[in-house]
Amino acid sequence: MVSAASLHAVFQQILSERFGKGVLGLALLTTLVACSGEPEQAPAVPEPETVTVEEPATRLVGAADITSAADNNAEWLTYGRTYAEDRFSPLTQVNRDTVGDLGVAWYFELDTNRGQEATPLVIDGTIYFTSAWSKAFALDARTGEEKWRFDPEVPGRYGVNACCDVVNRGMAAWGDKVFFGTIDGRLIALDRESGEVAWSAQTADPELRYTITGAPRVIDGRVIIGNGGAELGVRGYISAYDAESGEMLWRFYTVPGNPADGFEQPELEMAAQTWAGEWWELGGGGTVWDSMAYDPTLNLLYIGVGNGSPWNHEIRSDGVGDNLFLSSIVALRPDTGEYVWHFQTTPGESWDYTATQHIMLADIEIDGRMRQVLMQAPKNGFFYVIDRINGEFISGNNYVEINWASGLDPVTGRPIETEGSRYVDQPSVVIPGPLGGHNWYPMSRDPVTGYVFLPTQNTSYQYANPGTMEKQTTGWNLGLDGTPREPSNPEERARSAAMSPSSLIAWNPSTQSPAWRVDYPVLGNSGTLATAGGLVFQGSADGVFHAYGTNDGAEYWSHEVGDAILGGPVTYELDGEQYVLALAGQGGAITLSMGLFSGNGPRYLNGRLIAFKLGADMQLPAAVPTPPAPLDVTGAVTSGDPLAGALQYSNLCFVCHGPAAMSAGSIPDLRFSATLLSQDAFLSIVLDGLLEDRGMVGFSADIGAQEAEDIRAYLLQQAAAVPR
Ligand code: HEC
Repeated sequence: MVSAASLHAVFQQILSERFGKGVLGLALLTTLVACSGEPEQAPAVPEPETVTVEEPATRLVGAADITSAADNNAEWLTYGRTYAEDRFSPLTQVNRDTVGDLGVAWYFELDTNRGQEATPLVIDGTIYFTSAWSKAFALDARTGEEKWRFDPEVPGRYGVNACCDVVNRGMAAWGDKVFFGTIDGRLIALDRESGEVAWSAQTADPELRYTITGAPRVIDGRVIIGNGGAELGVRGYISAYDAESGEMLWRFYTVPGNPADGFEQPELEMAAQTWAGEWWELGGGGTVWDSMAYDPTLNLLYIGVGNGSPWNHEIRSDGVGDNLFLSSIVALRPDTGEYVWHFQTTPGESWDYTATQHIMLADIEIDGRMRQVLMQAPKNGFFYVIDRINGEFISGNNYVEINWASGLDPVTGRPIETEGSRYVDQPSVVIPGPLGGHNWYPMSRDPVTGYVFLPTQNTSYQYANPGTMEKQTTGWNLGLDGTPREPSNPEERARSAAMSPSSLIAWNPSTQSPAWRVDYPVLGNSGTLATAGGLVFQGSADGVFHAYGTNDGAEYWSHEVGDAILGGPVTYELDGEQYVLALAGQGGAITLSMGLFSGNGPRYLNGRLIAFKLGADMQLPAAVPTPPAPLDVTGAVTSGDPLAGALQYSNLCFVCHGPAAMSAGSIPDLRFSATLLSQDAFLSIVLDGLLEDRGMVGFSADIGAQEAEDIRAYLLQQAAAVPR
């Protein structure tokens, strides 16, 4: 038993480590700045200048702007730059000859070390972007100076619903507003000029475990937004809101609810025929958490639909049926939300194989014929080319090594599954694993070569069927048996381990084959940006920003930024100068759930938005690594069972703190946590939620004191094994 005073000392230490002197310093600085002015006195009114042209206060963003965004060099108006989401800029100032002169023009420091996944927008000389915990920022695009910031004050307890870090991938713009979603399921509209709330709509029941991390899109004054949560037992849908008023206009459910309650949409009756058991009790999944694209001529909105909830098809649907519209691309009418067609990439999904990955539209030549296509490289490892008029399968090929299927049916595109990959009767090491061959990291496309630049990764996972699922209240509900065990098919595990962890692949969609490839030693590299300067930009998870030749993958330039870049870089032009923006900030699903096994070292840096231009040479402040000292656990006493604790840890904790408690930094590495030394301190955090406001919720709904003590015993064991 520890005294209250020593408990207090432990927390003091945690807090000072956590908030540091930097925060105090900042507060002091703010006070000084506030005092140095003359707040009582009104500033002198300058003589008015003669006004010749009446300019509107705010440049309004309308349908014509986004529809013609491909030719707009100066700005970046929507998540994928155009409705086709090709992330190709016509700018040429930074090119293969000049890129050697590219340097840091300015950087903007964020207030958190959690993952940064946003694609910034650039409108009329201002940058708008979101950061972790759904915060919004507006910066001067010339200088990086802050114009405003907005914190939606998401309660920390919602952090546990975010499967893959409290990230946000960005905003949409329309009229004089910007729009973004929050971790607690709100869609917020801000006035672009002032950063003040224009309206806010609750798009998901806050009592259910929905989160929003994806960027909205706006079509003709309708703000379209989905959500996530299929690891935690929700039912997927996507909704449209009026950009002016925030009124909900339509909602499209991606999976059927209980047939006894009737169907919200006619096609759900058909979809329900492809399900079995009582899936609605489990949620069903099918969340639309990331990708969308729009064809204004066909007036079709394309959405990517996620995995099943729970993952295991045996548990979710008695192992029966395709489970529409899981893992599908669905085409809808953006004005009404009406269903038009679908293409399912993984029927009867059982591996977390979402089809929420980037959807890109292009007109390309296939077999001598121009086709209006839609392209996607979902998690399941196949690159698909689909006719975007009617959803017809054109072609597909695997872009990474896979073992769950031997190929696709050449007519229907349906995968030909390999035996045992469904892990019904025995566990199976499946390639790729739940992180996928490609995750949400945006692709880009070069219209000259026709290549699509695809961030890929090689992962495997041993899936095991527990037969039945005990529902967790706070933890994930995957329907998997997480007991640590030897690989069932070790040769597959070894094959996967021998592959390069990740690559940038230039994929030729006309021939369905790779044109070139750059391999990386770490997992979790950024989205890509292609430019008419003949370059493709990508950040690697080991903290380097690269530019490669679009035609051959030769590296023309690289710059150390000291932190992982995850989201898609963007480029814009201002005063005749081309800027390239990269948002750095390690985190997200790969770093959290793989920890040190992702190849990333621990980082102790706050996120930064970094602007590059030719001739600039600002030095980024060096990363100051402050690795914690190994814990002295010699005196620690525990009655817990470390083996039972390991299982609990893998059920409840590893998704944030990393496998084997080896975190890559943005969430504490528990092997170094002084809280392990005190049973009371540990239980007050792990059961009672002492750090709830900071995103560490209490788990008392799922475990009791004995289970928590087992986890502590396991963590003490891991702490003792830290090399010193
Ligand atoms: C949703 C993500 C998430 C999950 C799941 C999670 N944690 Fe945490 N945990 C956090 C975050 C974030 C912090 C840091 C909070 C802060 O900044 O003070 C944290 C902090 C802690 C701390 C304090 C560490 C320190 O030294 O400050 C302990 C102990 C802890 N977690 C234990 C656990 C255990 C045990 C589990 C599983 C039962 C678990 N956590 C599951 C996110 C998570």
